[in-house]
Formats: sequence, structure tokens, C-alpha cells
Amino acid sequence: MTGINRKAQQRDVEIISNKKVGAYHHMVFAAGEMAAFARPGNFVAISVGGPNSSMILRRAFAIYRASDRGQYGGTIELVVAPHGQGSKWLTSLDIHDRVNMVGPLGTHFGIPTEPVSALLVGGGYGSAPLFGLAEVLKERGCRVDMVLGASVAGKIYAPLEGKRSVNSLTVTTEDGSAGIKGRVTDVLPSLIEKNQSEIIYSCGPMGMLQAVEEVSQRHQTMHLCAVEESMACGIGICMTCVLPVKDEKGIIKMTRSCIDGPVMDGERVIWGSSRAIPEGTWGAP
Ligand SMILES: Cc1cc2nc3c(=O)[nH]c(=O)nc-3n(C[C@H](O)[C@H](O)[C@H](O)COP(=O)(O)OP(=O)(O)OC[C@H]3O[C@@H](n4cnc5c(N)ncnc54)[C@H](O)[C@@H]3O)c2cc1C
Ligand code: FES
Repeated sequence: MTGINRKAQQRDVEIISNKKVGAYHHMVFAAGEMAAFARPGNFVAISVGGPNSSMILRRAFAIYRASDRGQYGGTIELVVAPHGQGSKWLTSLDIHDRVNMVGPLGTHFGIPTEPVSALLVGGGYGSAPLFGLAEVLKERGCRVDMVLGASVAGKIYAPLEGKRSVNSLTVTTEDGSAGIKGRVTDVLPSLIEKNQSEIIYSCGPMGMLQAVEEVSQRHQTMHLCAVEESMACGIGICMTCVLPVKDEKGIIKMTRSCIDGPVMDGERVIWGSSRAIPEGTWGAP
């Protein structure tokens, strides 16, 4: 049985920067030694609303970047979309305010042992963990191409320093307000062929991940994706985040995406089950 990420810890962390970037807030937290254990794909869970809040569930955020050096003894950076009550509360906070953070949580992206050609695909704030991943892949000698998609230009998160860690960056928007008009999957086949991509890493809405998996199967590339199932506890207790996933023997099990994910092998996920349980599925492992 799997459990919570062994490196996870709970801390009150100070906000040291909170800047609005397009539709998002780039937030930096003095997270101490938690930062040293974070790997691309891991996430943190943050208490929202303050001590008397009725918002009892923590909110999950993918780690955009983690650094274990510098004057704060370790920093964790997030890209937050002010979406509902909790994320709006978080992004309204000021420098020096503190929040309670649990992390790093979940699985991380596997890194190939040999230099390969990698294609990174992000939808909306789903680009967040991909820049840290690109840096690690580059250090391994990989070629790194990136595709970022969103409905409109303001929802593309592509900071300047992030662009330097990739060989090519392609942007798609559904309304054509930036880059190529269309969806990320429209450009994937030509990029896979041109760059001889051997592995796809993706993060974004579930519909996009499913579409990326379909392209990946047609081109016989490996696909690791970070799923975004709704999470309540974030630490493997409540079963809110389960989705059907095939194990190595082909048995479908309802799998907790907070501890056995968010990073999963796209080929093993039973996509499009819309919270229904496919026939023959076992309970949670
Ligand atoms: C692994 C992961 C990584 C994420 N990374 C990012 C990121 O980098 N940036 C970002 O902006 N957002 C990210 N999100 C989404 C982020 O957690 C949401 O923005 C947040 O949950 C919305 O919170 P809210 O308070 O603004 O919205 P609200 O609508 O007020 O609250 C949503 C709350 O209800 C819970 N919830 C919703 N539906 C269900 C359900 N069916 N069953 C149980 N609980 C439910 C949610 O988990 C959340 O706690 C991520 C989510 C996950 C799971
Ligand atoms: S969110 Fe509670 S088990 Fe995954």
C-alpha cells in the first residue's frame, strides 16, 4: 500500500512575494527545508481562509519551482489562478503574511537516465510544474520542446526565464489571441515528428490530458501526465481524488491521485470515465 510522500512536512510559511502575472499570481513562500525535498510534479496543500474560516479543505497547488538556497533557507514558488473562494483569499494576501503549508506531496515526474527528446505540454496554470521539469531534463542533456495552450492569451503562463530552459516554445490559444489558433493537440503530431520526441510530459485539465494520451498512443511515445482530480485531504485519507487506473497486471483499481499521483503513466489511466466506475474495477489499493 502506498502512503503519503515520506518527505512531506507541515509548516507555517511566510509569503515573500506575490505578483500578478496575466491571469495568475506568482507567489513565493519561505518554505525552509521543505524546498529541498520538492521534485517537479509534486504539489503542496495550503490551508485557506485564516484560523476561523469555514473553508476546512486545504487547496492543492503544483510546485512551480523550488530552491533550497538563498537568504530564506529554501523557497517554494506557485502559480495561482484566483478562481474560487480559497484561491482568491490566498492571492489577496500580502508579503510577510503566513499560511500553513503541507508538502511536498504526491509523486514526481520520472526523469530518463539517458538524454532523450522530450515534449512538455501544459494547459493554463498546468504549465507551472513544467519549467522546473525542463531545467532538470536540460541538466540530463535532453532536448526539451514545450507547448503551452489556453483559451486566451492572458491564461498562458510563460515567464521569460522559463523560455530559456527549452529548445522551442509553441503557444496555442483557442481564440487565436496569442500563438497558433487552436488546441495543444493540433500541433503535437508535427512537433513529435520534427523533434523525434520520445517522451511526453503533460499537466493541465483532464480533457486535455486525455487528448494528449490519444496523440501519444498514435505516435507510440511514452506519456507521463500530472492529473488534476479534485482533492479534499491531499494525503490519502478521504478517497475524493480516486480515478480508475490499470496496474502492472492490467487490473483496474480506483487509485488515489494525491498519493499515487498526481504524476501517472497516461497509458494506464482509464480516461473519460466521468467519475463512473468501469466494470471489473477493484477498490483502492
Ligand atoms: C494536484 C493539483 C494541482 C493543482 N495545481 C494548481 C496550480 O498550480 N495553480 C492553481 O491555480 N490551481 C491548481 N490546482 C487547483 C486548485 O487546487 C484549485 O484552484 C482550488 O482547489 C480551487 O479552490 P478555490 O477555493 O479557489 O475554489 P472553490 O471552488 O471555492 O473550492 C474548491 C474546493 O472544493 C474541493 N472540491 C471541488 N470539487 C470537489 C469534489 N467533487 N469533491 C471533493 N472536493 C471538491 C476542491 O478540492 C477545493 O478544495 C491544482 C489542483 C490539484 C488537484
Ligand atoms: S484527496 Fe483525500 S485521498 Fe486523495
